[in-house]
Amino acid sequence: MHWPVPGKRLDTWRAMEHLLETGKVRAIGVSNYMVRHLDELLARTESPPAVNQIELSPYNWASRRAVLDLCAANHIAVEAYSPLTKGRQLADPPLVAMAGRHGKTTAQVLIRWALQKGFIVLPKSTRPQRIAANADVFDFDLTDKDMAALDALDQGLTTGWDPTNAP
Ligand SMILES: NC(=O)c1ccc[n+]([C@@H]2O[C@H](COP(=O)([O-])OP(=O)(O)OC[C@H]3O[C@@H](n4cnc5c(N)ncnc54)[C@H](OP(=O)(O)O)[C@@H]3O)[C@@H](O)[C@H]2O)c1
Repeated sequence: MHWPVPGKRLDTWRAMEHLLETGKVRAIGVSNYMVRHLDELLARTESPPAVNQIELSPYNWASRRAVLDLCAANHIAVEAYSPLTKGRQLADPPLVAMAGRHGKTTAQVLIRWALQKGFIVLPKSTRPQRIAANADVFDFDLTDKDMAALDALDQGLTTGWDPTNAP
């Protein structure tokens, strides 16, 4: 389910649960579910989502800590969309400096941050070279100090519609 649409989401979820029970699908999940939407789903339906896909990057993750904790407590995988901030923060000086220290691009550092947080990462590029580079993130590690520095970049940035207060 792409969005927590008011008035429709429980019926839609129950229809998806039927698909799961009848073996037509192997897993069902949600996107843009914040705490209130997940609380409702967990309290009023049978199957927890396998995954919740939400916007996540160092520039907004801290303001989403509550939903991340709720997902962790309920074994819901977290998938990070727009992990490259739609390109907006790729020239941010602290990020550029860190990428330089690792001999990597700023996009690779953001993807590596998300992986080390335990998220599934969903970056997008239309360019084959960038797609390949964005997947080339398994030959380096961010240190604890790097992770802490990236964690400190939060500024509540959302590049799309923010579902936090959606009814
Ligand atoms: N569930 C939802 O509601 C939701 C909402 C938004 C997005 N998404 C999904 O999340 C995925 C990614 O999100 P997104 O496209 O919004 O943002 P993103 O992955 O954070 O950023 C994509 C932008 O970054 C550029 N880019 C990619 N790799 C780069 C690199 N190595 N160096 C420099 N620039 C680079 C791309 O340009 P080029 O193409 O020119 O490389 C594009 O402009 C998409 O598949 C999208 O469908 C889901």
